[in-house]
Amino acid sequence: MEINGKTRTCGLIGNPVEHTLSPMIHNTLAKLFGHNLVYVPFPVETGRVEEAVTGASALGILGLNVTVPYKSEVIPCLREVDSLAASIGAVNTLVRLSDGYKGYNTDMEGLYRAMTAEGIRLAGEEIILLGAGGASRAVAYLCAVKEAKRVYLLNRTLDKAQKVAEEVNRCAGREVIQPMPLAEFDSLPDQKFLAIQGTSVGLYPNVEQAAIWDEAFYRRIHTGFDLIYTPWETVFMKLVRKNGGQAYNGLKMLLYQGIIAYELWNGVEVSEKEAQIVYEALKSHFASAPD
Ligand code: ATR
Repeated sequence: MEINGKTRTCGLIGNPVEHTLSPMIHNTLAKLFGHNLVYVPFPVETGRVEEAVTGASALGILGLNVTVPYKSEVIPCLREVDSLAASIGAVNTLVRLSDGYKGYNTDMEGLYRAMTAEGIRLAGEEIILLGAGGASRAVAYLCAVKEAKRVYLLNRTLDKAQKVAEEVNRCAGREVIQPMPLAEFDSLPDQKFLAIQGTSVGLYPNVEQAAIWDEAFYRRIHTGFDLIYTPWETVFMKLVRKNGGQAYNGLKMLLYQGIIAYELWNGVEVSEKEAQIVYEALKSHFASAPD
């Protein structure tokens, strides 16, 4: 694509942003659609998010993604916030309005689309969710919104799981989230579950770690979804597979959160065929990914 006087700009604000795969997603989509658009990373120093958002608006930046550590900090800098993003308290996508930006959380819709693409349902399911940090808290909201029957929220620190459960249950108007200490997985009902791994354990460079090692836990999982995608296969995924379950990493969640952002910015619908092309481009980044 030739950059010229009509090129529109999107980008990512965060710190650090050096390792992001988002430019690959958006620049591939721009090429597929023939859009005159570039997507670039913008490292933003601590304490300068508000300036960054105001500056982006003044510069006519079409849209921004927001990553760690600014997903919550950016909220007061926005004109409007979508209701799911507001209840989660985290925004990862800014869409241009006439005078500022509206914030969305496409991470959660992205996770939902990734799961749907793999044939995984949330509605009516009994789910184990590992972790009660920012990522798992958002997943807990998603499960409640998508009508999961029950979510067992297992966390090393019980208080945090209790706090998330209280908040999400209040918002959902039903007792959907049940907090439990991680070590007490033995007291889960005797059945097979969909398990979502939302802790930071196993993330590169600590690739040899898992939040739970006991294989009795993994025998209860029919499908395991790890939000992590570096490494390609986490210890959690290996243990799920070893014990007869299907396992997925978080790369499709990354893919679809980007696709939804691109759709919001450009008013287009990305087909599954186009999504697959972008996925293959992302996958080629991982030496250990299967063909
Ligand atoms: P994020 O925003 O990625 O969710 P976070 O808010 O720091 O990150 O949350 C990290 C999650 O991983 C928490 O659930 C944390 O458990 P605690 O609440 O008990 O801290 C979990 N976690 C981190 N290291 C862990 C470990 N070694 N074993 C079990 N859980 C761990």
